[in-house]
Amino acid sequence: MNAADITALIEAANRAPSVHNIQPTRFRIDDERTITLLEDTSRRLFVGDPEGKDNQKSLGAAFEGLMLALAAHGFGADIEKLSGAGALRETARIRIATGGVADALEPLTHTRASYRGAFAPPTEADRSALAQIAETCPDLHILQGADALQHVGRVFDDASMEVLRAPAYRAELLSWMRLSPKHPDYERDGLNAAHMALSPIEAFGAGLVLGPKAFPALDSIGLAEPLISESGKVGSAAGVALFHRPTDEPEFETGRRFYRVWLEIERAGLALCPMSVLADVPHVAQRLMRENGIGSDRKLVTAFRIGRRPSTWKQPPRTRLPVSELIVRAA
Ligand SMILES: Cc1cc2nc3c(=O)[nH]c(=O)nc-3n(C[C@H](O)[C@H](O)[C@H](O)COP(=O)(O)O)c2cc1C
Repeated sequence: MNAADITALIEAANRAPSVHNIQPTRFRIDDERTITLLEDTSRRLFVGDPEGKDNQKSLGAAFEGLMLALAAHGFGADIEKLSGAGALRETARIRIATGGVADALEPLTHTRASYRGAFAPPTEADRSALAQIAETCPDLHILQGADALQHVGRVFDDASMEVLRAPAYRAELLSWMRLSPKHPDYERDGLNAAHMALSPIEAFGAGLVLGPKAFPALDSIGLAEPLISESGKVGSAAGVALFHRPTDEPEFETGRRFYRVWLEIERAGLALCPMSVLADVPHVAQRLMRENGIGSDRKLVTAFRIGRRPSTWKQPPRTRLPVSELIVRAA
């Protein structure tokens, strides 16, 4: 592997989704056929994800992206799981080997992106694509129909309000939002206005609403929830998928699967927005699992609202750190 090959591999791995686009995965090139994946523990959601579970999922997704890219070039890998400590935690060592078989999901990694706007009105084809996805992915429980979507939309808004009422949670969320193109990290990481499908005015308003003083004031007169509500967007979806995995599955492995189911949905020509707050608030996750007959041997990982992007939607360029900042020097 030469330097250009390695750069392309890391770029491919970092196309994977990461929580709030914080991109916590780092790569150390140990020799021409060995790469170590590390977690940059300074990039965590210390309030929203105190145990670092979402970082583990994000690392798992980046790992899966790396495997897909290697396989596309005919390579496989021997994997060693690591449980390092410190600021840069070693997580997996990958020894590149021959014998990889290209995976049909790899081409989708180039087009997959979060979609946070309202969906185009669902067609019969969208609904049957969803039914097809449910058959291919037994870990997705698909909800369809106006009543079911209205219910999830309401539960989502309530759960969002529950977490947003904590000032530290709002401050952390805001710290990863890039509401103006003037933000120095607008094109590097976090959630920028274009990716959140916010117009400049809406982005400005979002910054105000989530602020330390305005939010409690608006909440006290019942205005905060209507302003943050996404139930309309949930209602525009062709369906909502509850993504559930075995309770004892390591978060890293869950992250690998997270990426693959997203790519399956992309393969069906549909787009999605995760609504992880539904899984993050324990009583909400338990309620949704109970209502939908998902057993206690499963954990709710997230819920995806799924539909088709409107034909007028222009996908903004992917927001990622340069590869040079993802590479960690060997000691
Ligand atoms: C574990 C995990 C949880 C996520 N939860 C949410 C979420 O609740 N809401 C959301 O809009 N995006 C969520 N995302 C998507 C990321 O924000 C998204 O992948 C990131 O911003 C990069 O953008 P991209 O997916 O367009 O490449 C999640 C991603 C991961 C890996």
